[in-house]
Amino acid sequence: MHTLRLKEGGVGVEEEGEEGERRMSLQIDGTFFLGLSFPFDLLTLDSNIGKGTFGEVFKAHVHGKRVAVKQIFMNVTDAEERAEMVKDFGKECRIMSMIRHPNIVQFFGSVQEAPNFCIISELCEGNVVDLLNLLSGRKINVTWRLLWGIANGAASALNYLHFENETQIIHRDVKAENLLLTEKFVCKLTDFGLSRVVDVGKNNQAKHMTMCGTPSWVAPEIFKGEAYNQKIDVYSYGIVLWELFCFRKPYKDEDPVKLPYKVALDNKRPPLAPHIPQKFAALMEICWAADPKSRPEMDEVLRILQDFTKSGEEGLNVDLDAAVDVTKISNDLYKMKTSELRNGTNIPGAIEEENSESF
Ligand SMILES: Nc1ncnc2c1ncn2[C@@H]1O[C@H](COP(=O)(O)OP(=O)(O)O)[C@@H](O)[C@H]1O
Ligand SMILES: [Mg+2]
Repeated sequence: MHTLRLKEGGVGVEEEGEEGERRMSLQIDGTFFLGLSFPFDLLTLDSNIGKGTFGEVFKAHVHGKRVAVKQIFMNVTDAEERAEMVKDFGKECRIMSMIRHPNIVQFFGSVQEAPNFCIISELCEGNVVDLLNLLSGRKINVTWRLLWGIANGAASALNYLHFENETQIIHRDVKAENLLLTEKFVCKLTDFGLSRVVDVGKNNQAKHMTMCGTPSWVAPEIFKGEAYNQKIDVYSYGIVLWELFCFRKPYKDEDPVKLPYKVALDNKRPPLAPHIPQKFAALMEICWAADPKSRPEMDEVLRILQDFTKSGEEGLNVDLDAAVDVTKISNDLYKMKTSELRNGTNIPGAIEEENSESF
């Protein structure tokens, strides 16, 4: 239902200077903040552009500026539950108002007047799942460099939340669907509905132990009901890397009821298909390690990704046909091919460099 409105011949993310983005954010910061209690009447909602678990998103404008408005579903009759939702909404707004980062959707303000509870933010063109659908449908060509840019942007956003922001924030719902893209393919993390400011206990473990997230992206320690910390986001990030390289949702054929047991007890993970460059496959594996302590912090992930650029690895031409083919076969065959072909992987090169930045 979401349409990606990407420009013909759009520039690749690697050409998008971080400084440029940062300057833009600062400018917005200085000139465009609507406040936490903006009147709903002053918003003009245009078309619907998305729908998630917690709200419906509209393209809108306010004071002549194009914005995105997420209207939160508050369709519960139970007064206590409703009060809880209003509280959660307040938390999401507070968290978003603290955040300034080029790879995180910029918060402009909120509406907090019953029955309207809205988040007003920077308008993007679509989400990463939209892009992956275009790729799997062979509607566009791309090199891994563009996907590397998305991986790098998401890692940078998480590193900021975990270590560079004043208070440590765990996102708790990292997945491709919550990564938005601008028309220049800059990746922006969104959806802070499940995020929590960390109340750190001893050993850097968050004290709260509530279930959270979307099952396929949820770390084993959450399924086991154990204490957790920011490493749950690192785990989800590993699954997002897999999405980026396989163009499909993880565990599509798995029984959702059995999945948590398989992930937590049998160490089940998505199969590493042979078309995935070895270094990225290795990165996925350390990110989704069963023991949170074995997972890298996001600054380490950023260093690893930077090393790929030094060696030119992120620019590897990968056979998109092969990648799309593996998305179409069954999970069992996928696994079999993986173990057969992974041995002495020969990464096929098929995409012409001149196609790399045109969508
Ligand atoms: N700022 C935005 N610009 C463009 N599209 C957006 C924006 N925010 C959300 N969307 C679209 O709406 C979808 C749902 O938004 P999200 O904030 O993730 O809501 P939910 O909490 O319900 O999952 C996203 O996956 C994306 O496709
Ligand atoms: Mg979402």
